[in-house]
Amino acid sequence: MDDVIFLNGDFISKSNAQISIMDRGFLFGDGVYELIPIYNGKIFLIDKHLSRLENSLKLINMESNFTEIVNIKGTIEHLIQTNNYKNVFIYIHITRGIQNQRQHIYPSEIKPTVLIMGEQYPSFTMEQITKGFKACIQNDYRWAKSNIKSISLLGNVLLKNFAAEQGMFETILMKNNKLTEGSASNIFIVKDQIIQTPKLSNELLPGVTRNLIIGLLQDKDLQVKECDISADDVKNADEVWCSSSTNEVVPIVNIDDNQINHGLVGDITLKTYQLVQDFINNY
Ligand code: PDD
Repeated sequence: MDDVIFLNGDFISKSNAQISIMDRGFLFGDGVYELIPIYNGKIFLIDKHLSRLENSLKLINMESNFTEIVNIKGTIEHLIQTNNYKNVFIYIHITRGIQNQRQHIYPSEIKPTVLIMGEQYPSFTMEQITKGFKACIQNDYRWAKSNIKSISLLGNVLLKNFAAEQGMFETILMKNNKLTEGSASNIFIVKDQIIQTPKLSNELLPGVTRNLIIGLLQDKDLQVKECDISADDVKNADEVWCSSSTNEVVPIVNIDDNQINHGLVGDITLKTYQLVQDFINNY
């Protein structure tokens, strides 16, 4: 059966949803998004996702009190109920809106387009997690505002597909020999028992899962050092993992055909994976 989605105030079936070709999201990629996991019918860390959404909107000069105007939480709850969602991801897509002429300059008065819908992404099995995944390193050629969860994802799309074409899970990105993030994830490394991840800046997305992991590890007296990480640091790490809402914790055991930890998933990675799973199961 066709899912019910939310588009500009209406709950309609997904196959009947249409947007204008003059939407600035379509023409310019002018908009932002969020992806929120639903576990067992419950919205996961909604406040963190909505505050990042507010921040993304603010950074592209859109309404800063947007989530007060549109009842996003109520809308998500309605979609969960109507579609009987148990485990799904809620995709929120907000564009600057429709303009009757294609021009770069946006008018001061323009009504945003708001789409909220459920999306299914398969999760990895325990067998896949314990086996680990491959990754590669590439130059981060995206723009310098990667902290905005922008719908303009061409760079991320090309970089993710670069990995996928080689049977790899992720492309790890370096800017001026500093690790930024993955094409669709944040990156953690472990060296001599020290867990490290790049500090937040305009070069990477402030991942909700990244933040959750740092907190969960701290609760276990494991500190995460937020610091600069070079390509050599990544290649010579004892452990590497990717974090994201869609895949939680993904162990990397091979980078550009060089094995990490002799190709075996490390203990701290597995511990982190388990901490996140336990947190989700008890949420
Ligand atoms: N992306 N960095 C990038 C570039 C990402 O696209 C994502 C997630 C993350 C991790 O953020 P979070 O932990 O909040 O999901 C980091 C989502 C899953 C996507 O675009 O599908």
